[in-house]
Amino acid sequence: MLSDDLEIKPGNAPVSSSVATADMQENLRRLDRLANLGLVSASIAHEIKNGLVSINVFVELLLQKGEDQEMTEIVRRELKRIDTLVTQMLRFSTPKSKTFSQVHVHQLLDHSIRLIEHQMSGRMITLERDYQAVPDVVHADESQLQQAFMNLLLNAVEAVGNNGELTIRTENVTGVDGMRRLKICIGDTGSGITPENLARLFEPFFTTKKNGTGLGLSITRRIIEEHRGVIEVQSQAGKGSTFIISMLVE
Ligand SMILES: Nc1ncnc2c1ncn2[C@@H]1O[C@H](COP(=O)(O)OP(=O)(O)OP(=O)(O)O)[C@@H](O)[C@H]1O
Ligand SMILES: [Mg+2]
Repeated sequence: MLSDDLEIKPGNAPVSSSVATADMQENLRRLDRLANLGLVSASIAHEIKNGLVSINVFVELLLQKGEDQEMTEIVRRELKRIDTLVTQMLRFSTPKSKTFSQVHVHQLLDHSIRLIEHQMSGRMITLERDYQAVPDVVHADESQLQQAFMNLLLNAVEAVGNNGELTIRTENVTGVDGMRRLKICIGDTGSGITPENLARLFEPFFTTKKNGTGLGLSITRRIIEEHRGVIEVQSQAGKGSTFIISMLVE
């Protein structure tokens, strides 16, 4: 059963608190929560699938008995629909292997912008591209990186509402470690973020939107960190926000 299979142990990371810094502990807590999230969805999907199998058997029996053919057909059709949904959910919650390649960030940004353009149409939103990075190539899973860009772009569009400005900027920087990095900044002149919300921004399920899931930023951060990158945010309530991704240049 679900309750027996599920093992949720918050804060069970094998690191002694005397060596872990506050940042490390926070990171581990976050990883825990994300791992649990995947575990919970997979377990729930699995349980629903088990339930569906037995319901299906009874529906087949009712059909054979010829009792209320029409209603039984409806039940059967809906069961099939739920089964398909749950199969997709299971597929989504099991970790996918990544396909790494050389990704041209400017092309991928352009493509992502094209995909969210219809969300901006009919509003007074201007978009400025300031692509400075040369080269603009990173080693990444293109579709995951696109998902990260789109999450940030959609948040920016939602934050500006009916009028405002989005700025997409890239540049190369050399860190104190001598490594060359590509910085991708997605800025908006939208609502901005209050200091208390800023602290919870990347938590799974944290949302201030009526229909938000609060998963966009936690997924984005996971993707960037799995690419050995960093994501940061600067924001001022009422003025706007800028999300900054930093990744190693290929
Ligand atoms: N560019 C931004 N400007 C202002 N607030 C933002 C911005 N991006 C994120 N936020 C805040 O962070 C919260 C979490 O964002 P996240 O993308 O994780 O979830 P969401 O946008 O609420 O829901 P979903 O992404 O599932 O539609 C948002 O609800 C919003 O309060
Ligand atoms: Mg979002």
